[in-house]
Amino acid sequence: MTSATIPGLDPDNAPTRHAELLAWVAEIAELTQPDRVEWSDGSDEEWTRLTDHLVAAGTIVKLNEEKKPNSYLATSDPADVARVESRTYICSKNEIDAGPTNNWVDPTEMRATMTELYRGCMRGRTMYVIPFCMGPLGADDPKLGVEITDSEYVVLSMRIMTRVGPQVVELLGEDRFFVKALHSLGAPLADGEADVPWPCNTTKYITHFPEDREIWSFGSGYGGNALLGKKCYSLRIASAMAHDEGWLAEHMLILKLISPEEKAYYFAAAFPSACGKTNLAMIQPTIPGWRAETLGDDIAWMRFGDDGRLYAVNPEFGFFGVAPGTNWSSNPNAMKTVEAGNTMYTNVARTDDGDIWWEGLEGEHDHLIDWQGNDWTPESGTPAAHPNSRYCTPMSQCPIMAPEWDDPQGVPISGILFGGRRKTTVPLVTEARSWQHGVFMGATVGSEQTAAAEGTVGTIRRDPMAMLPFLGYNVGDYLQHWIDLGKNADESKLPKVFYVNWFRRGDDKRFLWPGFGENSRVLKWIVERIEGTADGVETPIGIVATPEALDLDGLDASPADVAESLAVNLDEWRGEIPSIEEWFEFVGEKLPTGIADEFAALKQRLS
Ligand code: PEP
Ligand code: NA
Ligand code: MN
Repeated sequence: MTSATIPGLDPDNAPTRHAELLAWVAEIAELTQPDRVEWSDGSDEEWTRLTDHLVAAGTIVKLNEEKKPNSYLATSDPADVARVESRTYICSKNEIDAGPTNNWVDPTEMRATMTELYRGCMRGRTMYVIPFCMGPLGADDPKLGVEITDSEYVVLSMRIMTRVGPQVVELLGEDRFFVKALHSLGAPLADGEADVPWPCNTTKYITHFPEDREIWSFGSGYGGNALLGKKCYSLRIASAMAHDEGWLAEHMLILKLISPEEKAYYFAAAFPSACGKTNLAMIQPTIPGWRAETLGDDIAWMRFGDDGRLYAVNPEFGFFGVAPGTNWSSNPNAMKTVEAGNTMYTNVARTDDGDIWWEGLEGEHDHLIDWQGNDWTPESGTPAAHPNSRYCTPMSQCPIMAPEWDDPQGVPISGILFGGRRKTTVPLVTEARSWQHGVFMGATVGSEQTAAAEGTVGTIRRDPMAMLPFLGYNVGDYLQHWIDLGKNADESKLPKVFYVNWFRRGDDKRFLWPGFGENSRVLKWIVERIEGTADGVETPIGIVATPEALDLDGLDASPADVAESLAVNLDEWRGEIPSIEEWFEFVGEKLPTGIADEFAALKQRLS
């Protein structure tokens, strides 16, 4: 078919006069050969039509309207359940600009390979064009994108996760810049061929062309691989944009803490996967008089304001959270968000009365339909929900959203927290001596490998600023960018940097610190450090809280455990040196001098 004969492709049908966009849509339609082209408008009518379509196709089921209003459960192909880091590429022109943490292929070669994969790949399907905006629509420089996809699940999920609709088309105008984000399931249908519930391809590519600000994704329908506004745009491409333009695109939650005196403090915090980022983002403080609100659970874009302070906005519009372990005690605010309805669940289990369940959720069930569609009983011996099962839900439904969450100005950040999951060595909370020391802390963030992944259990995977899977350029340049931003700023207005560890264990493997809402006690100490009113002790690794300086009133933990959670064990820290050394050798020639200096100073203090 030529453009003249693909229904819906005629530019007169398009809601825009943006010439470059129209030309790109025509080019992709001619390459991929869909049965028809449709422009997504994010309307309720579109939601109803596409959910009806996917229910008929067997991709999603409608949940019990009384229990989970306007909500659906999607179950994926068992081989398409997570981000595929081994198939994720940063195709910069020069290999050094992607390295050493990313997969790289020459962009010309990658475009040739993927063009052949895309040829005819939408046959038998509808090609959707989704104009979207990351961050508030009212921003001075709104960050626009257009995703082309042949997945209805993607259209529905992008409506939850990003800002879509006619206002975005208006912002695009006739010539405004947008990120081209091309996605295909890679599952064309021959004439009359029956579809499967979750089409995808065994060959997968999640490819980024950072210099061109383009994303090409093929073969997967799963969240992080297919909802291209999220990790692909807002972290990998945006980090490259931020490097060029002097701002930061980070894998961070944004939290607002309000003191009993009604003073608000904003924090951004980076933790690798499975370290409780969403729980901290929605914390319920246990200390009297303190409240928390949230602005985001996964991504923060930060830039300096005219007043010299660092301001953060969350580019997203929804939460794409891990379901297992979420419950009314670990995260009541996430539960209330999804209970409000309008939620797309993926790979959780279904109850006999059309509700959902996952491991860790309250309630016991004698019978469920598991994430693969099989009958499940407590005797089955397999998880009912996939460990990476998800809820995709509108942020606006979260009961503790800060009123300013959609403000294009963003919020001024007082503190940046880094952390990982560490059984030993790393104290509950340590303040950096300076911005550069804080960047060093972020550069060395590590988390223990669990039994679930390849590698020796207990081995520390270094994950700088929790950005390892999400960096769009060279990690050495990235760390230098962090240092430079601090150098060029007014140091007195920079956020203070803290390194936290909620996961330190005692000799019998018990957690030394209770975590969850009790982490508000650590946040209170951080606020008091910012105000200059709390004590800390100078140690070789930074300024560590003392038990006396922490508000421990009513805490259900032994004083000995709290003291141990804060201990700086110099032998453990000396033991840490070789693994940091190895990581910095891997970073290689672009390791900033400032980071090497901080490392040398640490070694000196420990000797
Ligand atoms: C994702 O896999 O789509 C995702 C959001 O990843 P993570 O939760 O690991 O950040
Ligand atoms: Na994931
Ligand atoms: Mn994340």
